[in-house]
Amino acid sequence: MKLLVTGGCGFIGSNFVKMILAMAPANQVVNLDKLTYAGNPENLAEVAGDPRYTFVRGDICDASAVEEAMAHRPDAIVNFAAETHVDRSIDSPGEFIETDVRGTYTLLEAARRHGLRFLQISTDEVYGSIEEGSFTEESPLAPASPYSASKAAGDLLVLSYVKTFGVEALIARSSNNFGLHQYPEKLIPLFITNLLEGRKIPVYGDGLNVRDWIYVRDNCAGLETVLRQGKAGEAYNLGGGNERNNLEITRALLALAGKGEECVEYVSDRPGHDRRYSLDCAKARALGWDPAHSLEEALQETYQWYVEHRDWWQPIKSGEFKRYYLAHYGDL
Ligand code: NAD
Ligand code: DAU
Repeated sequence: MKLLVTGGCGFIGSNFVKMILAMAPANQVVNLDKLTYAGNPENLAEVAGDPRYTFVRGDICDASAVEEAMAHRPDAIVNFAAETHVDRSIDSPGEFIETDVRGTYTLLEAARRHGLRFLQISTDEVYGSIEEGSFTEESPLAPASPYSASKAAGDLLVLSYVKTFGVEALIARSSNNFGLHQYPEKLIPLFITNLLEGRKIPVYGDGLNVRDWIYVRDNCAGLETVLRQGKAGEAYNLGGGNERNNLEITRALLALAGKGEECVEYVSDRPGHDRRYSLDCAKARALGWDPAHSLEEALQETYQWYVEHRDWWQPIKSGEFKRYYLAHYGDL
């Protein structure tokens, strides 16, 4: 199998590329990535010299860059490339519309021209917030942020290409991932690295928003299952089955760091902050997938990875991350 993976230098994409190459000697990956602030070739340093891995630097919105990647004749496209951080989508939505909508369209056109299977990596956020119960794949889309709205638009385009043009496309909607190589703007790596730096950890609002946490390796296994076995025109929810509110995650991280509640700083809430995400994943489980890691063990492993990889995250936190924060919030 030869995959065109887009956004492979990001967090989930890099974990996925490494998993695919490790799965079978015949597997090959072409990675098309623009290398935005979130794309880091170091995430794939261990496979950079593998002859089965090819890197193409380019933008998924640029049809000629997509064609350059297609010249490697992949069997399928897996689209991870996106702007992904909700707070950044509130500060400046434009890039989200470009990449998450126009970029998806450009890739769908390539899938259509070349007759390729296409897996769109989407998110549980497209369903919006749910007070009780869980979303199935049939639940209506009700996104709340420019990020989730742009992802929902991408999903709808995918479904339209199945119906109108017969493209063999499908969608995976994952819950909150965590694990190694996650950019330290997201809750878990931000809090771990702040604690390691002796900084406070900023909890939004009352800290009672609920997310369903999935270890990135479990998500990648689910994505591979959906890619191989899912039906065109269908969406598949991939949740970890670990619903926790942000204070519960905060306390677990404080315990791992051996620190107390005095490190917590309650800050203004995120505008439009979804209260709870919850996925019914029966459809993906029926394909034979199940998350294999417990939240506690995976959190411990993740914490330890950040302890041992300051050389990975310190340059980010003193570079792009710091510039972004100072420009938008005036303080770090
Ligand atoms: P990330 O922000 O870590 O990485 C995004 C990658 O996409 C980077 O390598 C970046 O350089 C690349 N990219 C961005 N714009 C591009 C463009 N125009 N052309 C080419 N490459 C571009 O992202 P992530 O957290 O790994 O998320 C990957 C995918 O999974 C996204 O589609 C996201 O919506 C989805 N998702 C993420 C989570 C999560 O918890 N992180 C959960 C559910 C779904
Ligand atoms: O649910 C899947 C989504 O998970 C993905 O589609 C997104 O790409 C990914 O960014 C993530 O979105 P969230 O907004 O849920 O993740 P984030 O890590 O930004 O925030 C998780 C929760 O923690 C959320 O309720 C907001 C809160 N939070 C976040 C940050 C960064 C804080 O309380 N303080 C913070 O500093």
